[in-house]
Amino acid sequence: MGELGENINNLTIANKSEDIVNPWHVSSASDKGVDYDKLIQRFGCSKIDSKLIDRFESLTGKRIHHLLRRGIFYSHRDLHNILNLYEQEKPFYLYTGRGPSSQSLHLGHLIPFIFTKWLQDTFDVPLVIQLTDDEKFLWKDIKIEEANKLAFENAKDIIACGFKEDKTFIFSDLDFIRLCPEFYRNIVKIQKCVTYNQVKGIFGFTESDVIGKISFPAVQAAPALSSSFPFIFSNLKSCNKVPCLIPCAIDQDPYFRMTRDVAPKLNCCKPSLIHATFFPALQGAGSKMSASEVNSAIFLTDTPKQIKNKINKYAFSGGQTTVEEHRAKGGDCTVDVAYQYLTFFLEDDEKLETIRKAYSSGEMLTGELKKILFETLQPLILEHQERRSKITDEEVKLFMTPRLLNFKFG
Ligand code: TRP
Repeated sequence: MGELGENINNLTIANKSEDIVNPWHVSSASDKGVDYDKLIQRFGCSKIDSKLIDRFESLTGKRIHHLLRRGIFYSHRDLHNILNLYEQEKPFYLYTGRGPSSQSLHLGHLIPFIFTKWLQDTFDVPLVIQLTDDEKFLWKDIKIEEANKLAFENAKDIIACGFKEDKTFIFSDLDFIRLCPEFYRNIVKIQKCVTYNQVKGIFGFTESDVIGKISFPAVQAAPALSSSFPFIFSNLKSCNKVPCLIPCAIDQDPYFRMTRDVAPKLNCCKPSLIHATFFPALQGAGSKMSASEVNSAIFLTDTPKQIKNKINKYAFSGGQTTVEEHRAKGGDCTVDVAYQYLTFFLEDDEKLETIRKAYSSGEMLTGELKKILFETLQPLILEHQERRSKITDEEVKLFMTPRLLNFKFG
């Protein structure tokens, strides 16, 4: 059975007993949020277990990233293949992306990039970052020039995460398509391998969707084929068959399930994947963070005061209603948004565990927990803003120029 064996048509049909997770819609059947274990079963990917984590750690000789340690990056496809290549010092690359739909990114948008930067530092391999301005033009009520401008602005936030200039290529689809004929050729080759019935099954498209949407998945699939980037890989003997690893949130999996089905037909490698859970909205895991709802998320442009106020006012609390009750029963870390945000951003395991114990026993109050959170996030976001403000248009253009990257594969 191919990668498309599992038909996910049902994902688009609202079914109260099942979570809905696809690239354009995430909603969960329960207040606790998406059932991630069920999701990997349905999608047919594999859970990252302690054995895989141990192998990762022993191969790289490095403590693995807390996002991996804490099960935030929790699922994968063929991650072993990538670790084998690393072990044998054979080439591979990283591919991730962002749909530039808003001027300002929120904290959740940062997660895949923070993790990808760590992968880049750990593996020392090339990285390509796709900005799907075409996708946002097709799906949102937004002008094409505006989507393209947002891609350029978002690139600054991405660069501010600390990616290495000599190992990172960032591209907007709308621009890259005219700079690199090989990219478009791959798109067309992919389009020839996938029928309407298949994309309908994977993404839930209907007869009334515009044809731009129906053909778009080929655009997101193409960067997973190394032959889309001849300027990066042409020096390699097997330049058309360099495998890639895609870090992404689990909602992007449908694109790559399709890619993995198509790749062998084009004599290319199936991409490997590593999937993250979603970053919860301030209102809790059952609700969705939205760039248009300013109080649902903390933005990278928020001031320290806004951060503090949003957390105090909106962060869903797992604490009890009165201090007496809280002292007696303790808080519930599994639903408490402040605690959950700390699992994403507080690197110190010991500190986190002390907080967890104190909060669940009732020794620590919600206000105290929230204070720890905003004091953790304020400097982090200020530093991001500082780094971003120093990035010039020239620097962005350099990252976005097709060029040879610096890496040392034989
Ligand atoms: N479609 C993604 C979004 O809307 C952007 C994207 C393109 C992406 N290529 C990717 C995300 C590869 C992860 C991996 O955000």
